[in-house]
Amino acid sequence: MGIKSIIPSQVLNSNGDPTIKVTMVAENGVSDYFTVPSGASLGNKEVAQKTDGTESYNGKSVNDSIKLIAGVVAPKFIGYPIGHQSDFDSLLVALDGTENKQNLGGNTILAMSGAYFKLSAKLSEKPLWQYIAEDRKTNPAFPRIFANLVGGGKHAPGLDIQEFMIVPKSNKPIEAIEQIVQTFHTLTTIMVSLYGPGAQLSGSEGAIAPIGASTEVVLEALSNLNAKNGKTFEIALDVAANSFFDGKSYNFEGQSIHASDLLAVYQGWDSKFDLYSIEDPFAEADIEGTELLKTMPKDKKPFKVIADDYTVTNASLIAEFSKDKLFDGVIIKPDQVGSISEMFTAIDAAKQAGLDVVVSHRSGESNDDFIVDLAYGIGAAGIKIGAPNHGERIAKYNRLLEIQYSLNSSQEQLDSTLDLGQKPTATPLESSAGKVATMAVPTPVEKISVAPSSVSDNTISPKISASEPVVVASTPAQPNESLASPAQPSEVSEIGAAPLTTEATPADPIQPTTPIITHLATVPPETPMPSLPKEPEVPSGSSFKNATIALTPTARAAQENPSTAVLPVSGL
Ligand code: PGA
Ligand code: ZN
Repeated sequence: MGIKSIIPSQVLNSNGDPTIKVTMVAENGVSDYFTVPSGASLGNKEVAQKTDGTESYNGKSVNDSIKLIAGVVAPKFIGYPIGHQSDFDSLLVALDGTENKQNLGGNTILAMSGAYFKLSAKLSEKPLWQYIAEDRKTNPAFPRIFANLVGGGKHAPGLDIQEFMIVPKSNKPIEAIEQIVQTFHTLTTIMVSLYGPGAQLSGSEGAIAPIGASTEVVLEALSNLNAKNGKTFEIALDVAANSFFDGKSYNFEGQSIHASDLLAVYQGWDSKFDLYSIEDPFAEADIEGTELLKTMPKDKKPFKVIADDYTVTNASLIAEFSKDKLFDGVIIKPDQVGSISEMFTAIDAAKQAGLDVVVSHRSGESNDDFIVDLAYGIGAAGIKIGAPNHGERIAKYNRLLEIQYSLNSSQEQLDSTLDLGQKPTATPLESSAGKVATMAVPTPVEKISVAPSSVSDNTISPKISASEPVVVASTPAQPNESLASPAQPSEVSEIGAAPLTTEATPADPIQPTTPIITHLATVPPETPMPSLPKEPEVPSGSSFKNATIALTPTARAAQENPSTAVLPVSGL
C-alpha cells in the first residue's frame, strides 16, 4: 500500500498563529493527518521552524512551506509504501541536508513524518498506541499527568515561573483527571477570592494567571489543597529559567540573583511545600547553574530535575548530559527535533540512561492528540498536557480517558468469555500492558523507474494558492533509497527563490539494514531565521499576551453568584 496524495495546508494553532497540517491519503482512500505544535519558551538547540517572515500574520504565516511541500517534498513520496518510518524520515532529513533543518524547516519535516506515521498506524487497523508499542517493542502504561494549573513566564503575564503543575499519584486517567479538574476549579476560586476576577483568566496552556500572586502563595495554596485531599498528588514546577536569565543573572520576582541563590530558593520551597520535580531550574547557557546541578546527589536529589531546554529531544544531548547524571528525566517534544524517528531515538537514549520520559505538548497546540497515544504506547513516566481548559488541552485529557475506557471495555468483553477459573489475575491495565507483538514489515512496492525528463520540470507553480490545500501526485522515492539520491541539499537551500526540482533518481536497493539518522541538531542555526516585527507591548493587567481569555467553569459560577464561592482552604 502506497501514498496516493499529500495535502498540506496552513491552519491555526491555539494561539491563533499559522502552522502546518499535512493530510496523507493512502491508495485505498484511508487518510490521516498531523498538525505541528509550536513553543514560546524555546531551547537554543531546537531545530528551526520556518515561517514566511512577511507581513502576513505578522511574519508567522507558513505559505512558503505549504508551497514547498506541494511542489518539492510531496512529489517524492507519492506511491511510497506505508510503514517504513525510518527510511521515510531519512529521506526527509537528507532532503533538508542541514544540522538544524533550516532548509525544509523542522515544521515541514514533522508534518510529513507525523502524518506518515499516523497513516501507517491507521492502516494497521490497530489503535495508534498499540501500533507504537508493537513497533517500538515497549510496554504500554499510563503516564502520570503533569497538569499545569497556574502559568507565568512566556505563557502569561504575572508570575516568573512558567508552570505550576500538579501530578496525581494515580496514573489511571479516570481517577487522576477528576482530581485535576477539582483541584483546578477550587484553586481558581481561591485565586479569585485573593486577587479578584482577573485571576481566573488563563494563559496559553489554559492555566490561570493570577496577577499579583507570588510564587509562594500559589505553592502554599496547592500544598494546602493537597493536604486537605489526602495528599493525592505531588507538586511540580517548570521554571523555564531561560526566560528570566539575562546572560549573567536571573531577574526573579524583582531581584537580580545568581544560580546559587536560585537553588537556595528552590530548596526553601521544597522544604516547605515538598516539590516532586523542577524542570529547567537553570538557563541552559548558565555555566554556574549547570555546575551546581553537578553538585547535587546523582541518585537521590531532593526533587527530580527534568531537562527540556537543555536536551530538546536530541539523543546526542541526552546521552551527553546523562554522563554526569545531571537530570532525572527529560521532556520529549516531537517538534524540537523534527522527525518521528529522531524522536524515538531520543526516547531510546533517555530510557537507556535510566531517565524518566515525560512526553509534552507545546504552548501552541491543536486538537491533534498524537502525544497521548505516544506516551501511553511507550509507557512514558509522565505527560504534560496543560490545564483541563481550552479545547486543544481537553483533546488530550479526553484521549487519555478514551484509551482507559477502551481498555476497560475490552477487558469486560474478555472477562465475559472466560471461565471464572481462567480469569486473568492482573488488573485490566496490567494485562493489556503485557501484550506486545512485533509489527510485520510490509513488502515494499516494486520500484518505478522514472526518466529524469519526466519530472525535471516539476517546479513550484506560481499558480499554487497558498491558502488552498494542494494535492500532489508524482513519482515516489523508495524505502532504503540512497539518501543522497532524491535531491541534493543545495537544491532546496533557497526555498521559495529558485525553481526547485523534484527529480527522483532510482537508486540501488540497500540491503536490509535500517538507516540511522545522524543529522541530530547540536548547533544553533547557521542562518538566522527571518526577524519578525516586534510585538506590541501588552499593558499589564489589561489583556494577556498569547493568551485566550477564558473563565473556568468554577470561576464563572463564583462570578455570577459570589455568595456561593466557598474557600475550602484555610491558612493562606
Ligand atoms: P513551550 O513551553 O511549549 O512554550 O516551549 C512548554 C515548556 O517549556 O515545557
Ligand atoms: Zn519546559
